[in-house]
Amino acid sequence: ETHDLTEFLSFAITLAQEAGKMIKDATENRMSGTGNQFLVKYDNPTDLVTETDQAVEKYIKKRLAETYPDHRFIGEETMAEGVDAVFTDEPTWIVDPIDGTTNFVHGHPFVAVSIGLTIGKEPVVGVVYCPLMNELFSAAKGHGAFLNQSIRLPFFQPTPPPLGDLSQCVVATEAGSDRSPEVIDKKIETIHTILKQKQHNGKEAHSIRCTGSAAINLCTVAKGVVDVYWEVGCWEWDVVAAIVIVRESGGIVVTGSHQPDPAPVNIFSRKYLAIRAAQDENSQLNVAQQMWDIIPEIT
Ligand code: IPD
Repeated sequence: ETHDLTEFLSFAITLAQEAGKMIKDATENRMSGTGNQFLVKYDNPTDLVTETDQAVEKYIKKRLAETYPDHRFIGEETMAEGVDAVFTDEPTWIVDPIDGTTNFVHGHPFVAVSIGLTIGKEPVVGVVYCPLMNELFSAAKGHGAFLNQSIRLPFFQPTPPPLGDLSQCVVATEAGSDRSPEVIDKKIETIHTILKQKQHNGKEAHSIRCTGSAAINLCTVAKGVVDVYWEVGCWEWDVVAAIVIVRESGGIVVTGSHQPDPAPVNIFSRKYLAIRAAQDENSQLNVAQQMWDIIPEIT
């Protein structure tokens, strides 16, 4: 069966725009004092869920079921209700209604709705929309990656600047929701190593960034304005859409750890490393190797 990825992509863009409006309205109502002031539904301090997360996912799920009744669905809030993620070769929409919920709760604008589609278990369509910043990232396999449907990614066309090595990189990463000492200590140690003077080729990395959204971190890699993203502990709905966007921008995404070269992505790995587009794949693999040399094994 052949699928028209561009049709799925344009539906996903429409859905993301509709969902984005719900997120924007909720933010504006809350700021003007006319909306619900008790947004937080489950107050696990490191993994917040709001009524808007639930309402947006319900809306997206319903629209997808009406339009593509044969397609499967995996969503962050649906899984939180205890539904098992059944992953098959069938077209499967993988959705995070709000990636960056902590930002959303705090009124910080780095918030995105993330809508990805896998077919044959491969991520093939992705839309990440940041409604508070008016940035819509989209990609379908074989069709390129775009910002706001018109600007081709990465920036710096026709060719991105050389990647160099880790000492010339900005690295995005996150605190994540697992703050158990074994996990957070290893993450902090890794960040320490990335930033430590005279570590990489006799120098330290340029800096680190944490946007609070795995999807947005990956989209900064797709833009080419961040060189590396590494995270352990986020979920498939945080990354599937943006994986398509990064790959279509010429970047590489590797899952798992300590792999010799980019293998097919395992979206469930909960360990993701992305490197931005560069003229030569060797420089991408070189930076990936430098990261693997310092990334510890974390559960
Ligand atoms: C979270 C964000 C964050 C990452 C966490 C995710 P959510 O997603 O992507 O950047 O560090 O691991 O759970 O909860 O805001 O959808």
